Amino acid sequence: MSESGGGATNNNHLINRWTGRPFSQRYFEILEKRKSLPVWQQKHQFLRTLAHNQILILVGETGSGKTTQIPQFVLNAVDLETPDKCRKMMIACTQPRRVAAMSVSRRVAEEMDVTIGEEVGYSIRFEDCSSSRTVLKYLTDGMLLREAMTDPLLEQYKVIILDEAHERTLATDVLFGLIKEVLKNRHDLKLVVMSATLEAEKFQGYFSGAPLMKVPGRLHPVEIFYTQEPERDYLEAAIRTVMQIHMGEPSGDILVFLTGEEEIEDACRKISKEISNLGDQVGPVKVVSLYSTLPPAMQQKIFEPPPPPLKEGGPPGRKIIVSTNIAETSLTIDGIVYVIDPGFSKQKVYNPRVRVESLLVSPISKASAHQRSGRAGRTQPGKCFRLYTEKSFNNDLQPQTYPEILRSNLANSVLTLKKLGIDDLVHFDFMDPPAPETLMRALEVLNYLGALDDDGTLTKLGEIMSEFPLDPQMSKMLIVSPEFNCSNEILSMCAMLSGIIPLIFSILCVCVSFKCSGLASMHLLTYRGLLCDNQFLSLAPNCFVRPREVQKAADEAKARFGHIDGDHLTLLNVYHAYKQNNEDPSWCYDNFVNQRALKSADNVRQQLVRIMARFSLKLCSTDFNSRDYYINIRKAMLAGYFMQVAHLGRTGHYLTVKDNQVVHLHPSTCLDHKPEWVIYNEYVLTSRNFIRTVTDIRGGWLVDIAPHYYDLSNFPHCEAKGVLERLYKKKKKGKEEARKHK
Ligand code: CDP
Ligand code: MG
Repeated sequence: MSESGGGATNNNHLINRWTGRPFSQRYFEILEKRKSLPVWQQKHQFLRTLAHNQILILVGETGSGKTTQIPQFVLNAVDLETPDKCRKMMIACTQPRRVAAMSVSRRVAEEMDVTIGEEVGYSIRFEDCSSSRTVLKYLTDGMLLREAMTDPLLEQYKVIILDEAHERTLATDVLFGLIKEVLKNRHDLKLVVMSATLEAEKFQGYFSGAPLMKVPGRLHPVEIFYTQEPERDYLEAAIRTVMQIHMGEPSGDILVFLTGEEEIEDACRKISKEISNLGDQVGPVKVVSLYSTLPPAMQQKIFEPPPPPLKEGGPPGRKIIVSTNIAETSLTIDGIVYVIDPGFSKQKVYNPRVRVESLLVSPISKASAHQRSGRAGRTQPGKCFRLYTEKSFNNDLQPQTYPEILRSNLANSVLTLKKLGIDDLVHFDFMDPPAPETLMRALEVLNYLGALDDDGTLTKLGEIMSEFPLDPQMSKMLIVSPEFNCSNEILSMCAMLSGIIPLIFSILCVCVSFKCSGLASMHLLTYRGLLCDNQFLSLAPNCFVRPREVQKAADEAKARFGHIDGDHLTLLNVYHAYKQNNEDPSWCYDNFVNQRALKSADNVRQQLVRIMARFSLKLCSTDFNSRDYYINIRKAMLAGYFMQVAHLGRTGHYLTVKDNQVVHLHPSTCLDHKPEWVIYNEYVLTSRNFIRTVTDIRGGWLVDIAPHYYDLSNFPHCEAKGVLERLYKKKKKGKEEARKHK
């Protein structure tokens, strides 16, 4: 094997084996850097172990070169030819985060001196950047799971690398169980599990004693500082700390961990402003934000060098990166010397009792705090400022973050597993089995939607639903929309909703965070995070822009799109207006519409159209001038989302149907009245429970479209039940009268 790492053959070190072209100068420059990464010390040991084992677990500090180097080692060591020599097999490397998949694959393409999308590619939901030439593919764990639905033995792959396994995302956990089965049937397939933390011993137990390799870290010491008192406002404290470091500490870049896009953009603006107010007294800065919905070109900015000092011997220039959890282990940024850790991240929580999945800014775990501080010591000794007390660290933080599978609504995963032919979910080999109640709830939801029959068997409808990369409610709505003669409009709505991030919070979360008293009180006071980083939820940013300086104009612009019946239809208006104005960027700008979000929605729409075509689902619209145009759309929505309905009680409050949770219309709604019944897209909690993206529907439709769910014989006692009873009576009477007339 050659030492060049990039695939040069022994007899010609200057020719790239993948392209047949001579290597560029840049290739050799990067190669030198790569060779100094810790994993290179163990390259031979790694390949030897891999050659003798089907499964291998590799643990190494963030930045040791796992994600970028290991797949290349594998690539140069295995034969990708299929026995019939017809085609090449691939190496897959999964990432929990879209951003990481995109960014790392770009880097690796550069390291291999090939074009991204050719030999090295990536695949994330709604975006496939790979080709028939691709031999190394970075993909989100969710995408690999989707691929397994059509290729159950994952026959495209020779080696599968499950990276960032310590994150324990839902998709990675399902893949563990799935691939464990596949390995029994495919002796030629190999699995490498890579992790940044030592929980890896748990993986070893699960994979029946697979060898564990540790890459010794080369972390420099990091000094940890805690606050004396709990901080009331972590955002303000984080900005203050940035300023203190910038004014008083020697050179070195700063990494600040915050929770979501809006909060991060806000912080970046404030930091830039405060620093510019100080003029020449301080060095120049480059303030960079990092979160999953950032366009790739902007993501690249985190790797740019800091600005040079204004004058020789002047105060140092710095790069200040304000990031979500992405920078915790997924992306390695060199040159960070100072880390600011407020102690929070956005985490998913699920309460099966009230069927609410939520994303809540919650205290991180000790393991996370440890990873975050580690980011300060990559290149030299560093400092980490924890914006909470040492006592809080010791007493309030859990040792590890709970695996996502224990905190999620499993409807989507259960549908996938059913499609994969795994019927006995109770005995499926989960590393951490989910609560039986959560599994029950998932089966129940899928049964109500008609995806599973009463025996729990996948129906034809369920099969089609599983093919759409959407939540089950949404795919149901889309699939039945031709029956309501409005599939064109529902398609646009799905695309727009996929572009808007569901934020659902539950009561349970408040209880969870209240338990961590010190941190929680601080968090409730300062809650402002709005966007999540979860690959399944966040596709594109909110479609409305609301710049601080021109909020009034922005609100007026938004109101112009407003539809009297609600927010879903408002989104549809925005999409239609965007298309009517030929996707014109200046139109977007003038109307405070986020062009990126609309473009992304349009792209999503095209892909959904393709899936519709595959199942011969008709594309149709009701005549726009017909009275039924919007009514049909609203009815189709209800056909998917009949479980997300709230009823306005006499007290003037909305209660969610069946679960009877008090909820309020989110202030962002365009509704100017309070309809008796509303359908909602998200359940949001800030200081109270909100339902967001709501549309007016009629009670009569509930009993027409979803009588199986609105079956009053097993309906909890509540005001809505009385109303429904009357509606059923009315319906019966109407039917009898119709019969008489005949
Ligand atoms: O996966 P692990 O955390 O072990 O490390 P990695 O992501 O493979 O990163 C190894 C090295 O590649 C680090 O020094 C990164 O700074 C560098 N890298 C880079 O320069 N640009 C990227 N887009 C990704 C990684
Ligand atoms: Mg990595």
